[in-house]
Amino acid sequence: MSNTHQKTVYVGMSADFLHHGHLNILQNARSLGSVTVGLLTDQAIASYKRLPFLSWEERKAVVENIKGVDRVVPQETLDYVPNLERYKPDYVVHGSDWREGPQKETRQRVIDAISRWGGQLVEPEYTPGISSTKIINAMKEVGTTAEIRLRRLKRLLAAKGMVRIMEAHNGLSALIVENAHVSSAGNRREFDGMWLSSLTDSTAKGRPDIELVDRTSRMQTMNEILEVSTRPIIFDGDTGGPSEHFNYFVKTLERHGVSAVIIEDKTGLKRNSLLGTDVEQTLDSVENFSFKISQGKKAQVTDEFMIIARIEALIAGYGVDEAINRAKAYIAAGADGIMIHSRHKDGLEIKAFCDAYRKLERRVPLVAVPTSYNHLTEDELQAMGFSIVIYANHLLRSAYPAMKQTAEQILACGRSLEADKGCMPIKDILTLIPGGV
Ligand code: SPV
Ligand code: MG
Repeated sequence: MSNTHQKTVYVGMSADFLHHGHLNILQNARSLGSVTVGLLTDQAIASYKRLPFLSWEERKAVVENIKGVDRVVPQETLDYVPNLERYKPDYVVHGSDWREGPQKETRQRVIDAISRWGGQLVEPEYTPGISSTKIINAMKEVGTTAEIRLRRLKRLLAAKGMVRIMEAHNGLSALIVENAHVSSAGNRREFDGMWLSSLTDSTAKGRPDIELVDRTSRMQTMNEILEVSTRPIIFDGDTGGPSEHFNYFVKTLERHGVSAVIIEDKTGLKRNSLLGTDVEQTLDSVENFSFKISQGKKAQVTDEFMIIARIEALIAGYGVDEAINRAKAYIAAGADGIMIHSRHKDGLEIKAFCDAYRKLERRVPLVAVPTSYNHLTEDELQAMGFSIVIYANHLLRSAYPAMKQTAEQILACGRSLEADKGCMPIKDILTLIPGGV
């Protein structure tokens, strides 16, 4: 009987790392009535910051077992209002920290919404001494496992409209991809994962991008990167080699926790795509390449590993119809994604491909490598139908001119004083890598 009069309380949280601050909020909530936790979905969290370490189901399992939590429901947006209108709680409980800063507006929307049915906002004092940044850094130090890393790309694809990937070619560049971030108005942008480019790996080794750097050597680079990072990896598998080898390759990548391999439908001596028809680019037959994809799909052990087929028809000058026919065939062969490549600066053939692709009955996520058509923004690419964007070579391309300039300046001046302006301070390089001092 008393239950019918029991007050209802709503608490929104991500609960990726639970600490005594959360428990303080939940204790306060519990003293007011029956507690509903609106647990932010991966999509809601990824809309403004890093994808959580734990999946929604894992976070739910934890939260619903906390004393005093009566039920856990999904909160699908950062905005509380849709859930508040649905559950019409008597109270919303949130830490006082959101009175200032980017969440101020969200807070006001909560107050306006619940005032319509006489609800109240209760704000326990923010528990001091907790830094989620510190907790996240500690988690990064703990690292990841092959399995967690592998699964992350599919989770990102499900949670985000556009997955942002940057190339890495050694441990240092991987650290940059791992840690680079910018924030504005409460939104944090970072790279979601890494592209292990054949071009930048080969170039960093002073070798041409013609499958000359062999797989053992590529795997060495990969291991260097795996050692210092936690983000998911998309591996540039070049042509994938002969079908009879590709299935072994897939198993190796999967065992290391790589999330996806992209293989291109070329044959013979592989030449970099950005050379276009200036060099001989021979396309593999649709049958052969489809067979290679299907062999790879048979070989993989997990459901999460992705084999992405890269279509080189536009690069080789065969046009959009040929590219679309190949997309259909590769999807039928089991490809989990399609990368369509083009070296035209205006982006028109890519757009034409996307328009035709959208009409296909069976589609998989589309990958863009906008090295040439780099005026298109991520939002524009997403509107065209892409869900992964790869910045394929930019860290190496920016590092090389800086190094060359320094070398030439030292030669010209006969000393290093002048070149120092372009160099990071010694103190900074000594402390750049954690554990160095
Ligand atoms: C790479 O980064 O090695 C690629 C993309 O394969 S491209 O260089 O554009 O061909
Ligand atoms: Mg390549």
